[in-house]
Amino acid sequence: MRESIPIASDHAGYELKEKLKAALERRGYAVDDLGPASDASTDYADFAHPLADRVSSGEAARGILMCGTGLGMSYAANRHPHVRAAVAWAPEIAELSRRHNDANVLVLPARFVSEADAEAILDAWLATPFDGGRHERRIEKIETTAGARAEEAGRHHPDHHAGKDDAGPGGHAREELE
Ligand code: RB5
Repeated sequence: MRESIPIASDHAGYELKEKLKAALERRGYAVDDLGPASDASTDYADFAHPLADRVSSGEAARGILMCGTGLGMSYAANRHPHVRAAVAWAPEIAELSRRHNDANVLVLPARFVSEADAEAILDAWLATPFDGGRHERRIEKIETTAGARAEEAGRHHPDHHAGKDDAGPGGHAREELE
């Protein structure tokens, strides 16, 4: 059976998502498009979480996300147990994210890579196996120590963003990009 790979973006990654869907299909994969269906303004977490759920539960072995920088998508996806979402902006990073970090979600910075770069990154990530060995131990520590540390830190960090605006220190939001 063909592997089905979930893919999702926000508005900034929408165009690249459509291109990578076609690239995946050309390579013989089935694509599970988790949205969005247009480039209308969206919030990346609304798309990162459903995709990360699929990978976290084992329903999908791996998935692909993209937003403007890749950062918001990776923050959200990496909150999920067993998800290792790697932002890759070059094929070498994608390859190392597989060999050393066993990345099961590829995150692309859509505003900073060309379509050709994105395909090369995708190919490196799809084709590269995990090296195992010493990296196995390192990856296990991500899961085993994260819970204890979160407990210790408490869940009441002051930096929760509800109600804050986007203005920088000078009071001007750097907001040409939706
Ligand atoms: C949207 O402008 C942008 O903030 C988003 O795509 C992403 O880059 C966030 O990390």
